[in-house]
Amino acid sequence: MVCTVVAGAFWGDEGKGKIISYLALKDKIDVCVRTGSVNAAHTVVYQNKKYALHMVPSTFVYEKSRLLIGAGTNVQVPQLLKEIEETGVKNRIGVDPQCSIIEEKHSALDKSSAHLKGLGTTGWGVGPAQEDRVRRTGKVAREVPELAPFLTDVALEVNTAIDADRNVLLEGTQGLMLSLFYGSYPYVTSRDTSASTISAEAGVGPTKVDSVLLVHKSFITRVGTGPLPGELSKEEAVKRGWFELAAGTGRERRSAPFNFDLAKRAVMINGATEVAITKLDVVFPECKDKTSFEQLSSEAKGFITKVETETGVPVTIIGTGPSVFDIIDRRNSGV
Ligand code: IMP
Ligand code: MG
Repeated sequence: MVCTVVAGAFWGDEGKGKIISYLALKDKIDVCVRTGSVNAAHTVVYQNKKYALHMVPSTFVYEKSRLLIGAGTNVQVPQLLKEIEETGVKNRIGVDPQCSIIEEKHSALDKSSAHLKGLGTTGWGVGPAQEDRVRRTGKVAREVPELAPFLTDVALEVNTAIDADRNVLLEGTQGLMLSLFYGSYPYVTSRDTSASTISAEAGVGPTKVDSVLLVHKSFITRVGTGPLPGELSKEEAVKRGWFELAAGTGRERRSAPFNFDLAKRAVMINGATEVAITKLDVVFPECKDKTSFEQLSSEAKGFITKVETETGVPVTIIGTGPSVFDIIDRRNSGV
């Protein structure tokens, strides 16, 4: 029984939702704490249905999973209530009383500020809500009547679960290159996105974390503005099949080839103990739907091996298609 932090390595959209939903079902994740905020959309494809979750933890697919929203999180109440309805989880979701609340005015500010527009923010109002929180004028969850039925001490629940040897997952959002501290400042989000902050936002101390799974996509994408090393033209991205639209905002994602230097740095700062690689089938189409490492082409195996040599960390989970079980899980197989 372990406590795992799942974080993103690049500019978000690495496929954390898919990896977390797989772990939920495979490892029977008893408790999941989502951190970050509504600006992230985690895509989960399960039983032929596609979800783009901005607030509800991605382990909801496992019906025994307790779903928590940590005190470090900013909650957008209408979106949370909509997703609770859509996923049918009202009896197993909990919100910390000290989550800060994103209000209409925050989103309006996010969309109207020339500075924030220039950074290419998602427009959800997360940055302006963070400003109010730091100023200590922001509203918190305990002041919102609609959230009353869900309020719970998330730090207490999650630490009790860890002490009782249950399987716990702390769900990060975005990726290290969007971190307020370690990303491509000022073209970043309004919080740190590394594993340490994910556990802090959930109320879990560093000595309680057993593993940090850092999710990378087989190529890199970025929405919004700011530098992207090795950026391809849209035409080249389309030709390679790497052109994507953002799950949350529908914006076009810019793309670039996998970057080993960035991966190495992300592994270092997150203290990653293992790595997941998603969308291997997009870069190596012959790998689509494969479920064992032996079935991969030698080019794909070479890529995975290079990630391991460069980062010094094992690649334990590989995504080979959009659905929850399009996965190669190498954790116990030794290959
Ligand atoms: P904000 O987080 O909405 O303030 O946006 C700041 C930057 O982070 C912009 O470049 C956004 O596109 C980017 N961003 C925020 N959340 C995500 C995400 O979940 N995936 C990808 N990019 C994101
Ligand atoms: Mg996303």
